[in-house]
Amino acid sequence: MSYSIAIDGPAGAGKSTIAKKVAGEKGFIYVDTGAMYRAMALYLMREGVKREQTELISEVCKGAKITIEYRDGEQVVLLDGENVNGLIRTEEIGNMASVSSAVPAVREKLLELQQNLAKENNVVMDGRDIGTKVLPDADVKVYLTASTQCRAKRRFDELTAKGVQCDLQQIEQDIKERDHLDMTRDTSPLRQAEDAVFIDSSDMGIDEVAKAILDLCI
Ligand code: DC
Repeated sequence: MSYSIAIDGPAGAGKSTIAKKVAGEKGFIYVDTGAMYRAMALYLMREGVKREQTELISEVCKGAKITIEYRDGEQVVLLDGENVNGLIRTEEIGNMASVSSAVPAVREKLLELQQNLAKENNVVMDGRDIGTKVLPDADVKVYLTASTQCRAKRRFDELTAKGVQCDLQQIEQDIKERDHLDMTRDTSPLRQAEDAVFIDSSDMGIDEVAKAILDLCI
């Protein structure tokens, strides 16, 4: 039986940093489900689909061939065999992913991929609906959040460190919009699973949050 740790929460809460750290400590693989939704968004954009074309998204998404590989312990998302890790971290893709991930056909397509990874491996999986939908029987469930201002500042610092020009207020606005979309959609909205442990990381360091999660593992 494989062991799974589910970490859900809003954009910019630090899920991926924490999940990677916890996975490293436990010797588990880290499954970044947001990256799969981002790869799907990239596919849709390349196919010329616009955010508001919901019906077209349902149709076109069926043609996407998204797979996952691990290279030197790092998750690599392949879109039709192409490594797209370097292309999916933009705000534009994040905004498209937030819209396209609300479409049920998109979620169905990625659900099986995520569940199979957890069946075959010990995983730390992060996303929006891992504890509620993807892995309802996960051994450990965490809902990780932080204040909107704190999340915006973290994303701003991250992008600035990469040399990307950005505007803090715009990022905060995007985060609010994304939270709204993620939390109010009909299919698998972001919410805390009843049996998830709530952690607000606004005033916590990375090691402190990781330790809190590791302490939950038996
Ligand atoms: O975590 P992220 O910013 O990389 O995720 C990008 C988008 O994908 C986000 O707006 C919501 C969506 N997503 C989702 O709906 N379900 C998941 N399990 C993971 C991400």
